[in-house]
Amino acid sequence: MLKHTASSILAVIAAATTLLFAPAIDAKTLTATATLKADQPGPQISRYIYGQFSEHLGRGIYDGIWVGEDSAIPNVRGIRTDVVTALKDIHVPVIRWPGGCFADEYHWRDGIGPRKDRPSRKNNWWGGSPESNAFGTHEFMDFAEQIGADPYVSVNVGSSNPTEMREWIEYMTSPGDDTLAQERRKNGRDKPFKVPVIGIGNESWGCGGAMTPEYYSNEYRRFQEFFHKNSDNNAIRVASGANAFDTKWTEVLMKNIGNRMDAISLHYYTLPTGNWDKKGAATGFSQQDWANTFDQTLRMEDLLQKHIAVMDAADPQKKIGLYVDEWGTWYDVEAGTNPGHLYQLNTLRDGVLAAANFNIFHHHADRVRLTAIAQTINVLQAMILTQGDKIALTPTYYAYKMYVPFQDATALPFDVTAPTYTIGDKTLPAFNASAAKGKDGKTYIGISNMDPNDSLVLTVDIGDLKAKTVTGQVMTADKMDAANPIGGKAVVAPVAYKGGKIKGNQLTLDVPAKSVVVVSLD
Ligand code: AHR
Repeated sequence: MLKHTASSILAVIAAATTLLFAPAIDAKTLTATATLKADQPGPQISRYIYGQFSEHLGRGIYDGIWVGEDSAIPNVRGIRTDVVTALKDIHVPVIRWPGGCFADEYHWRDGIGPRKDRPSRKNNWWGGSPESNAFGTHEFMDFAEQIGADPYVSVNVGSSNPTEMREWIEYMTSPGDDTLAQERRKNGRDKPFKVPVIGIGNESWGCGGAMTPEYYSNEYRRFQEFFHKNSDNNAIRVASGANAFDTKWTEVLMKNIGNRMDAISLHYYTLPTGNWDKKGAATGFSQQDWANTFDQTLRMEDLLQKHIAVMDAADPQKKIGLYVDEWGTWYDVEAGTNPGHLYQLNTLRDGVLAAANFNIFHHHADRVRLTAIAQTINVLQAMILTQGDKIALTPTYYAYKMYVPFQDATALPFDVTAPTYTIGDKTLPAFNASAAKGKDGKTYIGISNMDPNDSLVLTVDIGDLKAKTVTGQVMTADKMDAANPIGGKAVVAPVAYKGGKIKGNQLTLDVPAKSVVVVSLD
């Protein structure tokens, strides 16, 4: 019995070692086919699908964005220049702030006026850390303007009242001579701020007030009455949406709020284990962990289908948008960091996973018109990690960069037959993909090869599309958990793609294992 147990343990260790360090010797080349229907244009892929979320959480705002005017780190009016330059490069279209859970405890008056007079608060949701309020409305708007993004402001519903919301909106948007507009001018901003998107509460089923959908619907209606959607404030009104698969929440809001909202949000995080107590590591993971993570993230497709079905029943004309305004990977925090600061590293897995989600969002572009990854800097699935004056642009950042041509492009039907791969108890599609006609007139195809071992030859029937050349970019690495060092040279970044050929109406693409490929056909 003892001998049997020992040999079983050895077998498990051997299997685990194989999964963790499996060399490419077992690698195969899978084949797949696809059909591109360039003559059947679909909906526009809103650029807002490439949105960001930045909360007062950990080092997301302080260190990540705000270093203060007196910092030795190069900055413009306190906002770090390296971060602004990097974010401008990925054309961030919209940025959500100040939370998250933080939003429902935030009082906007704490963050205006001379910084020396602003109160210090306790950030109760995120480690009880001190909140200096140095970064408030004007600093956020300055940041959004510096990176060229539209602001998406989330207002406090859970611990506030409609008056506070109305006054904040008037402060930001009134062009008149009223006292709130005058106060904004006194604080340095003459013209109204542009505020095209406003969220009315966040996770109102949880940290935003632990409400039932019926109770929240009533609260929303009350706040909405004082929102005054008019020529000064013409913002898209976003209702606080469901937690993952809670379609009842969506159903009740569609019925009880209906056209008083312009969009409803949805939050879904990818945890490798699906277990909040032990989510899984950001680095040093096995192939089984890789497969589990993709299994979890691909649930986004089913999730969207379910919520969209509920919305379609109540709103067949698709007037109300579905905004996935929090999504991304959520791992166990890095050892030695504050558990309340949600700091995690970011690897090739995150980049491939981001692209897989983009492809899913593109397929639902007629309803999904905004998403915001959590979160921009130093928190969860970040674009940028900082350490003092040094930064790393993560594989997720580069996935966003590769997909820029999809912003405001026209979706094209792209039907694929994907082979599968199996690791342990998980069998998953080897890749997903999407296509669009870009604003520059070129046709783009984005591919996420989620198979950690096998490359792919994808043969695409491009129909009547008259294209002669295929160029593009590819991002991959030797290791599944390859990451870019902070302050060092990026090892996971896109390089020129040379694996495509067009002959007549047939396009052939060689796609490496665990990679992101974006090609343009011209
Ligand atoms: O992104 C971190 C947190 O996740 C947000 O504050 C909250 O909305 C969600 O639960």
